[in-house]
Amino acid sequence: MIGFGAYEPFEAEGGRIVACYRPPVPPLPPTDEVWEALDRTRPVVEAFDRALSAFPVPGVVGRLFARLDAVHSSGAEGATTSFTDLLEYQSALRRAKDPQDAASVSGAAEAFDDLQDGMGAPCDAALAIHRRLFDRDPDPYWAAQAGRWKAHPNATDDPDSPTGLFHYTSPAALPAALEAWASFTMATGGPELVRQAVSHWLFEHIHPTADGNGRVGRLLVPLVLRAKGATRNACCFLGEAVHRDKQTYVSALKRGRLTGDMGAWTRVFLALTAQTAGLNLDRIGKLGTLLDGWKRTTGSVRSDSAVHDLVPWILTTPAFTIRDAVAGIGRGTFASVNRAVGQLAGMGIVTAAGARARDRLFVAPEVIALFESSPHRSPRVNTPATKA
Ligand SMILES: Nc1ncnc2c1ncn2[C@@H]1O[C@H](COP(=O)(O)OP(=O)(O)O)[C@@H](O)[C@H]1O
Ligand SMILES: [Mg+2]
Repeated sequence: MIGFGAYEPFEAEGGRIVACYRPPVPPLPPTDEVWEALDRTRPVVEAFDRALSAFPVPGVVGRLFARLDAVHSSGAEGATTSFTDLLEYQSALRRAKDPQDAASVSGAAEAFDDLQDGMGAPCDAALAIHRRLFDRDPDPYWAAQAGRWKAHPNATDDPDSPTGLFHYTSPAALPAALEAWASFTMATGGPELVRQAVSHWLFEHIHPTADGNGRVGRLLVPLVLRAKGATRNACCFLGEAVHRDKQTYVSALKRGRLTGDMGAWTRVFLALTAQTAGLNLDRIGKLGTLLDGWKRTTGSVRSDSAVHDLVPWILTTPAFTIRDAVAGIGRGTFASVNRAVGQLAGMGIVTAAGARARDRLFVAPEVIALFESSPHRSPRVNTPATKA
């Protein structure tokens, strides 16, 4: 086996000895190997960050962009819940084509909500995200794993290995490996995006939980960058780009181990974050234009009407029931809010999805279109999320 890191024997169940990988804490790649990629990525991430801070409606990152990231980061792992499915699941209807799948995608979005304003220590944050991903799993085995480090070695297929498997860090080595990862992650020195690229590589090679390591690791990136003050908002996502090209992402992680070339891995990581931020920057620009248009359309409505509270709320909750809207804007009765939503429907801002009923879903199709559409559609495998 190749010499970047070491392999440590671990006695698994049944006395079987497996060679578990112990990644080194790699040095940051030399600046000249990554500056060009960094130079392309940093302005896009910063522009998206600034656009979020300047956006006239608060909460847009959590309500829309983190939800989109949850959909894509989970989609990269086989989840089939779409952005609209997630909103519908999180509405008062709590309805989904695949409730188990939607619950775990929703868990990733809720983990972001819990941690975006303060994530605490990296290991605690990783477990908190993991808990959200698995605590509603109907399989008691997986529900019992929620918020816990792995107790057994885990592996992925690896045709290059003599056993056909590559085993991540052994459970016995986890405390030391995680401590090294956490202090590297929170240390300063070098460009922060480069440090977090290497931190992500390290986390994925430790693979500290039985499942969910990809989703947990990718969500940590924006949270850590925000916690360290590198961005004002937790917004440096990579899920969408990973979903578009999972193969490139996984091969680059693996090649990092085989070659020890953290420069090559970091360039891929930077490209993934730049691509995701670029798509999001385009979306937030269009979202602002949409809001301006809605404000113009509703400009002649009486100034004390609930319509004016609904406009910004719907922009960040583009699939909702009347009950959700009453709770969301925090004023009015079912009847008055229903009337105001009816006015917005008359103006073409929202449309009713489904048959007339007290609890029906309304959607804002123009907002949904921004978050559902993707220039590239990856083929969706229609199976529930696979476990490691
Ligand atoms: N060969 C590999 N070497 C290192 N990391 C890998 C490799 N293959 C996949 N990964 C990482 O592991 C993740 C999948 O691990 P898993 O625990 O199943 O997480 P999730 O359930 O969120 O997908 C991938 O998203 C990637 O980050
Ligand atoms: Mg998995």
